[in-house]
Amino acid sequence: MTADPAVSGPRARPSAVVVLAAGEGTRMRSRTPKVLHPLAGRSMLGHVLAAAAELAPEHLVVVVGHGREAVSEHVHTVAPQARTVIQAEQHGTGHAVRLALADLSAQGVPLSGGPVVVLTGDTPLLTGATLLALVATHMHSAAAATMLTARLPDPTGYGRVLRAADGSVRAVVEHKDATATEREIGEINSGMYAFEADRLAATVHRLTTQNVQGEEYLTDVLGLLAADGDRVAALLTEDAEEILGVNDRVQLAHARRLLSRRINESWQRAGVTLVDPDTTWIDVAVQLEPDVTVLPHTQLLGATTIERDAIVGPDTTLSDCTVGAGARVERTSASGARIGARATVGPFSFLRPGTVLGEKGKIGAYVEIKNSTIGPGSKVPHLSYVGDATIGTGTNIGAATIFVNYDGVAKHATTVGDHVRVGSDSMLVAPVRIGDGAYTAAGSVITDDVPPGAMAVGRARQRNIDGWVGRRRPGTSSADAAARSDSDRGEHTHDSGVAEPGSSSDGRKGSRE
Ligand code: UD1
Ligand code: CA
Repeated sequence: MTADPAVSGPRARPSAVVVLAAGEGTRMRSRTPKVLHPLAGRSMLGHVLAAAAELAPEHLVVVVGHGREAVSEHVHTVAPQARTVIQAEQHGTGHAVRLALADLSAQGVPLSGGPVVVLTGDTPLLTGATLLALVATHMHSAAAATMLTARLPDPTGYGRVLRAADGSVRAVVEHKDATATEREIGEINSGMYAFEADRLAATVHRLTTQNVQGEEYLTDVLGLLAADGDRVAALLTEDAEEILGVNDRVQLAHARRLLSRRINESWQRAGVTLVDPDTTWIDVAVQLEPDVTVLPHTQLLGATTIERDAIVGPDTTLSDCTVGAGARVERTSASGARIGARATVGPFSFLRPGTVLGEKGKIGAYVEIKNSTIGPGSKVPHLSYVGDATIGTGTNIGAATIFVNYDGVAKHATTVGDHVRVGSDSMLVAPVRIGDGAYTAAGSVITDDVPPGAMAVGRARQRNIDGWVGRRRPGTSSADAAARSDSDRGEHTHDSGVAEPGSSSDGRKGSRE
């Protein structure tokens, strides 16, 4: 006798996962469909689809209804393998599943393999591990259906699980349909199930709307199966947090906090120091290496990656950024920026998409950078705007330099070579190039290319008009100070030929330069 292990046992891989996401979500009071509200960088539905993907189902179906254009488009973006099925009118969870099965059958999809798993789109804390446990329990118990249940301190609103003497599930009664005694039951239906496909398909047609809500309840499938003598099993989850549904923005904030704690603890266990986890928000797609330190009030969003020994924060928001090993980023807002190893950024820096800072480079206080590459060891330390620029290696951009990239109609590029010294308070009017090793004088407006090694001076020569303050601003504290300074240095006749008495009170008017 030979046994092929691939075909000998029942298949644990679901033939389909059906996610119910057609409901309106009225209590969110939002123009955005409920399941599209985000937490930790993913929509609620996106979290459910990510957990579902861990089951590697043969087919993934999302039932959409309210806001179906937006929801369908989102599904096709985050889970291109998924099909969407339209439930134009929401006649209940059983109705939604019936439509999903009808669609699969119309596509000629046989559901003869593994179980059909049903989930709802508003339970963002669900994990793949729990779904795998649900499917494993289902395979083990050889039941027609296995439901995920939980005990909640306050089960109000949920369906209650009615168990038979042998511990199997007899039925589920919705809160609104339950008797006072049934409402005493603390074990609730999570709304997540694994079904034998043929038993589900056969039973979902027998649902009626004979209940308080006038809906086809998917939960009635369980009672019908049990009444037919089929076994209905339940997996009571330890972690009731996972099944929390989000119906309003208070629950959304609660779920976001719980998810954040889960994400933060997993990074802490992986060797990341979070000085204040309560004010640290890390999206699911962020990657952190061991010995990264995150200081309070920091948000790491999108596809941000931080390499080892970097210190980020406090008061920093990084979205889709990479931070190299040992870099320091303090009080900064950055999006789409690449910060090199051992570079320093901040405090109070604003980095916009396309910012690339080389190894050991510096972007300092009150500096804004956009679409610019700053080479290794180069510095933009103070009060500057750099846009559409390429800066070489070892260059210093003096304080308060502005890269004038916009002529009012179009943007233009600036190129600054290696080891350049741009004087403070310069305007580099693009398009313009500054050659390697060149200097520019402080306060220059640079409109023409500067050859390598040249000193560019682009400003008027200084002229001092002696005695101007005494003549034109007599009686002011400035004039007094100037007069005192003159007498300290001894009596002194100015170029203008006008004698300047020490008195500040002579009130001369109409004096000339
Ligand atoms: C449902 C269960 C309840 C369980 C609870 C867990 C039923 C009848 N009851 O109740 O036992 O304790 O979930 O959270 O299933 N949906 C559709 N189409 C519809 C109706 C609903 O797609 O026609 C979707 C909703 O968008 C939602 C999910 O199904 O994502 C659950 O529907 P909802 O009306 O919220 O069911 P509950 O009353 O919460
Ligand atoms: Ca619900």
